[in-house]
Amino acid sequence: MLDRLKEIEERALAQLKDSRRKEEVLRIKGSLLGKEGELTRIIRSIKDLPREKRAEVGREINLTKERIEEAIKAALETIEKEELKRRLKEAPVDITLPGRRLPLGSIHPVTQIIDEIVDIFHGLGFSVEGGPEVEEDYYNFEALNMPKDHPARDMQDTFYLEGDRLLRTHTSPVQIRVMERETPPLKVIAPGKAYRRDSDVSHTPMFHQVEGFMVDKGVSFSHLKGVLTTFLHAFFSPQTPVRFRPSFFPFTEPSAEVDIGCLICSGKGCRVCKGSGWLEVMGAGMIHPAVFRAVGYDPEEVTGFAFGMGVERLAMLRFQINDIRLFFENDIRFLSQF
Ligand code: PHE
Repeated sequence: MLDRLKEIEERALAQLKDSRRKEEVLRIKGSLLGKEGELTRIIRSIKDLPREKRAEVGREINLTKERIEEAIKAALETIEKEELKRRLKEAPVDITLPGRRLPLGSIHPVTQIIDEIVDIFHGLGFSVEGGPEVEEDYYNFEALNMPKDHPARDMQDTFYLEGDRLLRTHTSPVQIRVMERETPPLKVIAPGKAYRRDSDVSHTPMFHQVEGFMVDKGVSFSHLKGVLTTFLHAFFSPQTPVRFRPSFFPFTEPSAEVDIGCLICSGKGCRVCKGSGWLEVMGAGMIHPAVFRAVGYDPEEVTGFAFGMGVERLAMLRFQINDIRLFFENDIRFLSQF
């Protein structure tokens, strides 16, 4: 029996050494260790041996089996390595192939415009502030000289929340919050989201504004004109005509609407400017004395101007987009153009 084991082992090791293919190794393995394999059958026959021989033969069989299994593993590894070497030689890696690119996102057009606006005002010495989008009635209306029965508070326009809270309908409440907290001189812009119950090609329920204001001793309407004209020339082009048209806001007096010469028809009159040759780009004015009183400033001491512009409107003019809703549909084909 022991001789037979030895003979089997020698033959197996020799065969495995010559094997060049995986199937060959597996066939050898099956013929020895498979259900009807030579070694398997020997293991099964241990029980027929005389009792006193069983231990010794059993140990020898196990050792032989272990060595053969070792050799099978080694043979398979060698074959795999050879195989890999061959494949690498056959199909060399083409290091000139371009890499796989990860899809990269880009800055949203609205954010791009906000960044640009902030940049220009930074250059004029303005600092950036923010405020909450869930705002109190007091900051959104009351302190801005819009008492309880003011038509601008219409349920049609405002998203009211529980209690005295609402979604701010403009960024002007930031004026109040900053002035309550700080003392003049102030030169501040406040970009952010605003909300109104409105939806069509030029209105979305959420939109962006950039608020701005300057408060100091002796600030006049000519400062307002100077700052806004400088901004509009930097944002559009130095040749862009700018005009100030009388208007009304409860929190400014006097108030103005600021127009630029139509970018599409250069003032000749077209569909975009409704034939007027002008495009309205923001609201502005001298901060109302009632607003100063609400924040504890003395309107005899300080004066100031404020303005507010719609970011999407500026983005639509800049990029010549005719439907504001495109900004918020998150269509990658639209967004990837910027
Ligand atoms: N808050 C005004 C609006 O949303 C814009 C504005 C801001 C007008 C500041 C004057 C001064 O329409």
